Amino acid sequence: MPKRIIFDTDPGIDDACAILLALASPEVSVEGLSVVHGNCSLEQATTNALSVLELANAARIPVVKGCELPLVQPSLLAPETHGDTGLGYAKLPSPRTGHIAQHAIDFLIEKILASPGEITLLAIGPLTNVALAIRQEPRIVQALKEIIIMGGALRYEGNTTALAEFNTYVDPHAAHIVYHAGIPVTLVPLDVTYQCVLTQDDVRRLQEVESPITKFVADATRFYMEFHDEFQKIDGCVINDPLALALAFAPELCTYRDLPVDVDISGGICMGKTVADFYNYGKKPANMRVALDVRARDFIDLFVERIQSLAPSPKL
Ligand code: BDR
Ligand code: CA
Repeated sequence: MPKRIIFDTDPGIDDACAILLALASPEVSVEGLSVVHGNCSLEQATTNALSVLELANAARIPVVKGCELPLVQPSLLAPETHGDTGLGYAKLPSPRTGHIAQHAIDFLIEKILASPGEITLLAIGPLTNVALAIRQEPRIVQALKEIIIMGGALRYEGNTTALAEFNTYVDPHAAHIVYHAGIPVTLVPLDVTYQCVLTQDDVRRLQEVESPITKFVADATRFYMEFHDEFQKIDGCVINDPLALALAFAPELCTYRDLPVDVDISGGICMGKTVADFYNYGKKPANMRVALDVRARDFIDLFVERIQSLAPSPKL
């Protein structure tokens, strides 16, 4: 039986790549996309979610809109990283399908409570929707099988401030709620994702199979590579969110430690910084499993091969 997953996502170049990787992976079954503000506005991210599903002939998967603002912090979007549309240089047709009318928070609660112990939540954007779903219906904490969160930077520098990672920095109060809710959490921080660099050679290899999907990934990641070159002097681009998805079905790609992890919400220069107590000075129990090392090349190869295998049929 495939693992039943729901994405909470802000597509976003690497979010789109994670959704496509999931659709190419028989080990998982995608039961919905709940959309959140983040890389681009909620409106744009919802359009992108629908267009990406249509690109992969997967418009049957429900898309729901969630929160357009963080809980406390002002809005922060990332056009310099993902482009004005959120998908870099990729151009997708406007979606023919629409999102469903239910709010993401209600959708998450309904789906999770309907299948206790079965749903894996892939949270690859700011955690606003997830935190509010927990506050609205705390029973989802017991009913969720697990949550895999792309976020945080423990021993690695931040990608948004000197210390903080984007998803966590954008809504640190939501991260605080989710980290301490009692759900089994796997955290996939920059410590591992920054080891996974998709290079131009990888994209050339990907394009050995010609399809609208390989073209989409090439066009989207070209923008992402320019960002990584300009801001971080990285040759290639880091595909954070697809790694989090891959761990849902190939956990052996990473090694992990159970750790007590917190997030700074005090508002100073450490705002949004994820802090792991590696030596447990605070004598607190671990609240999550953290990915700390990764077989990066194996993951990139898996990504390239699976995206190549996703050739869409002409009809929706
Ligand atoms: C995370 O922030 C976003 O820009 C990416 O989509 C990813 O989820 C990386 O810090
Ligand atoms: Ca994301």
